[in-house]
Order: sequence, then C-alpha cells, then structure tokens
Amino acid sequence: MSTFCLTVDVWRQPAPDAPGAFETHEVPDARPEMTVLELLDRVNALREAGGLDPVAFDDGCREGVCGKCGVTVDGVAHGPERNAASCMQHLGAYRDGDRVRIEPLRAASLPVKQDLSVDKKALRRVAKAAKFPVAMKALANGGCISCGACISSCPNGSGQLFVGTMLKELPPLARTEDERRERSAKVLAAAEEEFGPCSLLGDCVEVCPAGLPVENLSAVARENLRARFGRRDAPAGD
Ligand code: SF4
Ligand code: FES
Repeated sequence: MSTFCLTVDVWRQPAPDAPGAFETHEVPDARPEMTVLELLDRVNALREAGGLDPVAFDDGCREGVCGKCGVTVDGVAHGPERNAASCMQHLGAYRDGDRVRIEPLRAASLPVKQDLSVDKKALRRVAKAAKFPVAMKALANGGCISCGACISSCPNGSGQLFVGTMLKELPPLARTEDERRERSAKVLAAAEEEFGPCSLLGDCVEVCPAGLPVENLSAVARENLRARFGRRDAPAGD
C-alpha cells in the first residue's frame, strides 16, 4: 500500500468570536484512497498521541448523503473533486511532499462554531419559512442534502441553488395556488434575509455534491414573479 507525506494546514478557532489561524501538521502516512475526513482523523490521532486536543469538524454518514460534513480544501468548498462531499473527496491528486490547506466552509451565513465546524442553521431557517417538513420533503425530492457548499462557493454568499431547488419542488406539495404562493413568498423573504444575491456565476453547481443543475437557479426568479403577479386560478403544479 503506497503512503506519502503530506503537510496539512488546518484552521483552528476555539470559539465563534475568537480569532483563528492555521496550524501545521505532518502526516507521514497519507494514502491516495484516504478521504479528506480520514485525513482529519489521522491528524487527530497524531494529536491525541501527543496529548493534544482534537480538531473539531462536522461529519455524519461519510457516504455523501447526509449533508453534515463540509470543509474548504485548497480554497474549494468540499474539495477539488467536482460534485463530491468532503467525506467522498480522496487524496489521489496529492503527491509525497505536497501541502493541503483545510479550513471551514466560508460564508457569512455559515459562521464558524469551532475549528472546521460551522453553524448551518441559516438553511434550516429558510426551510422553516416554508413549513419545515414540507421544505425537507421538497429538498429531498430535488436531491439537495442541505450541505451549504453552494453558499460557501459563491463570492456573494448566495443560496440560490439550495433555494431554487426547494422552490422548484414545493409547488407539487401545495394543495392550492394560494398555499404555493404563500410558501414561496416566505421562502424568498427568508432567503433574502440569510443569503447574498445570485450573480449567475455558476460556481455552486461545480461543488454541489448532488450535482444539481444550473436550471434550478431559475426557480427563484419564476417563483418571485409568481408570488407577485401569479394567476390565482393557475393549477398549483405549474
Ligand atoms: S444545492 Fe447542492 S451544494 Fe447547495 S445545499 Fe443543496 S446539496 Fe449542498
Ligand atoms: S458525512 Fe454525510 S455527506 Fe459527508
């Protein structure tokens, strides 16, 4: 089994309001098939052996489906592999003596809790605006795992891919056109409060682990127009 030495710069921040800084670790036995989270496990094992506290980071299923993980690797939300959650990002592109920089997902709406762990409650607040279980069903139907990477990848901190996916899937779950318009309007208002504006740069679709399409962005404009001017007699699924 081939191993190689990797220098890992990891963001450390003891608390949300405390200053943060990179801390450097040498991992002498990295492997190409290791994931980013397994690399962090290795960093923590080395720290533990030296009597040091572990680096905090978020994880869950480690199968790319729960949306709990998410770090920025060499400046890219989730990591350099396209459309893969951090738990599914491997080290195959790194070579002996390389350096890798791991920091939290970066966005004003995703504040750091500790080290690499971020607060993703902004996504829940937007989902709650629609009626939480309905919004979660809409997101599941659309394939979104609520990881927040789209927001972090956007220079404006826009949540348009997340919001657009929800808005695209909400109409079939509404019983009436009025219900559809009310839910959409509430989601749009909450999203405006939490996230920045979309400039259609498309970075979000490159990092989205669900591989959601750029077309989902247009649901935001469509529901916006409909919430303002939509026909009351239109079927809810239109
Ligand atoms: S749209 Fe994609 S990147 Fe954004 S929260 Fe959903 S799964 Fe994550
Ligand atoms: S830990 Fe569940 S998606 Fe990464």
